[in-house]
Amino acid sequence: MSHTVVRCICAIGQSGQLGLNGHLPWEGNPGRPFVEDVARFFEITKGHVLLAGPKTIGSVPKFAFEDRTIDVIRSSMRPEDVLKKYHGRVVFIGGGPPVWDVYAPFIEHWDVTKLPYDGPADRWFKPEWMVAAKKKP
Ligand SMILES: NC(=O)c1ccc[n+]([C@@H]2O[C@H](COP(=O)([O-])OP(=O)(O)OC[C@H]3O[C@@H](n4cnc5c(N)ncnc54)[C@H](OP(=O)(O)O)[C@@H]3O)[C@@H](O)[C@H]2O)c1
Repeated sequence: MSHTVVRCICAIGQSGQLGLNGHLPWEGNPGRPFVEDVARFFEITKGHVLLAGPKTIGSVPKFAFEDRTIDVIRSSMRPEDVLKKYHGRVVFIGGGPPVWDVYAPFIEHWDVTKLPYDGPADRWFKPEWMVAAKKKP
């Protein structure tokens, strides 16, 4: 692969719920769709690069660091420089919202699972991320 492939994989509730109190809003729900979604996340990101803000990376379980490259990204970093570091790799931009606000124009594939969750949230998915255009240099 000659360029960096930039992707997003995330899960949302019925109206775009993404997060609650620093966790997934449905965390701990033993229902099949929730359990399967987490398993699918780890399967799809295996061997690849996962970049996200400090809170999101802070909630990634230890085992996940064994079979994927995981790095925290910060607002002080230029997205172009960050992505250049992973030339030739598949990079998943893992959020949260301020990260997707900035990296959305670079994402060429969105994998969004809509889960049967209808409760509260303090972080929300923005559909406009999926059509965000790259700024002209
Ligand atoms: N449902 C899902 O699939 C999913 C996925 C991801 C996260 N979440 C949820 O979202 C919540 C966490 O997200 P969060 O936004 O609160 O915290 P976060 O993951 O730490 O992400 C936001 C932070 O990323 C940093 N950042 C890195 N690059 C940036 C850039 N270019 N521009 C702006 N900020 C940048 C900023 O921190 P600095 O300014 O300190 O660098 C910013 O405050 C949790 O509830 C989590 O469960 C859900």
